[in-house]
Amino acid sequence: MKATIAVLTSGGDAPGMNAAVRAVVRVAAHKGVHVVGFEDGYEGLVDGRVRELTRQGPSGPCPIDAVDDALPRGGTILGTARSARFMTVEGRAAAARNLDGMLGLVVLGGDGSMRGLHLLASEHPGRFQVMGVPASIDNDIGCTAMALGVDTALNTIVEACDRLSDTAGSHRRAFVVEVMGRRSGYLAMASAVACGADAVLVPEEGRSEESIVEAVAKLVREGFSPARGKRRMLVVKAEGVEIPCTRLVRRVEERLADVEPRVDLRAAVLGHLVRGGAPSYFDRMVGARLALSAVDAILAGATDEMCAWMPTVQGGVETRDPSVRRFSLERVLEETAALLDPSSTVTRWRLGLLRRVEGALAI
Ligand code: F6P
Repeated sequence: MKATIAVLTSGGDAPGMNAAVRAVVRVAAHKGVHVVGFEDGYEGLVDGRVRELTRQGPSGPCPIDAVDDALPRGGTILGTARSARFMTVEGRAAAARNLDGMLGLVVLGGDGSMRGLHLLASEHPGRFQVMGVPASIDNDIGCTAMALGVDTALNTIVEACDRLSDTAGSHRRAFVVEVMGRRSGYLAMASAVACGADAVLVPEEGRSEESIVEAVAKLVREGFSPARGKRRMLVVKAEGVEIPCTRLVRRVEERLADVEPRVDLRAAVLGHLVRGGAPSYFDRMVGARLALSAVDAILAGATDEMCAWMPTVQGGVETRDPSVRRFSLERVLEETAALLDPSSTVTRWRLGLLRRVEGALAI
């Protein structure tokens, strides 16, 4: 039977997933290993919907054209999904049957995908190896400084905010711009400085709606005052801050009803725009290097781990790439849970850095 590795992409798509899939296929093929891809994440794994990603070339396996051509494309050529069936013991048993006979599985995805992968490995030890690659624009995965897609998403946010700034400055307006991130404020924090935002709202601060409305109203009042004389203001809000953009804008406007000349506020929700688009240099480069380490690890017999880029924590297993270390999925999941807690070292460090860089930016 020919040696085969499987790959799939799971959860929300992230720019750079295709670059990583391509690298998995190229590296494995170079080592004489065939690669198959499961369609639509864990859904396809449960159903056994599989595609050949290599064909037999003159001197061993080589990538099919669709894989080679995918490098500059956003999204994922394999398709992705959030699979409820895989979150059941029966679903994972079906998935395991579809992996029998293969060396292992590389999964590109976010925190939920890593959790599922760890369960699969724990429930079916010794049958196949599994290796995770962090891919999620939310950057909410433990142990790794960056997940695939984050850099591209940040560049898209910066470009969108620059455009909003143009129109805001022309009309003397303030914009509240909401960016994705689920429960993580990373995208908002990291983009705010680069966008020249006046404030950033992140769930990690744990502020009440009342205090947010109060703080934004004060900021806008002062910014547009004759003494400060701003013509445009930007407040970047993470989606994890539960007050909807339009309600925040309305409530702030109510508080500023006495201001003359009148202050205009607008809301813009960037949403899924931020998840699409061609991957940046960084996401292609990191995708390729994490994929290389993942294939290396499987061929070296490792399992139940994730490859991390520039680890945020001590420990792990070194790889032949100085920027990549491998961590057990158990440790990754512990660190992931800690990230959402404002008392976590990494979260405190991120918030502290934000405050040091821009003083009062985080409100
Ligand atoms: O996890 C990635 C992400 O884009 C989050 O930022 C967002 O909350 C969620 O996915 C949106 O999910 P869906 O595409 O299913 O609406």
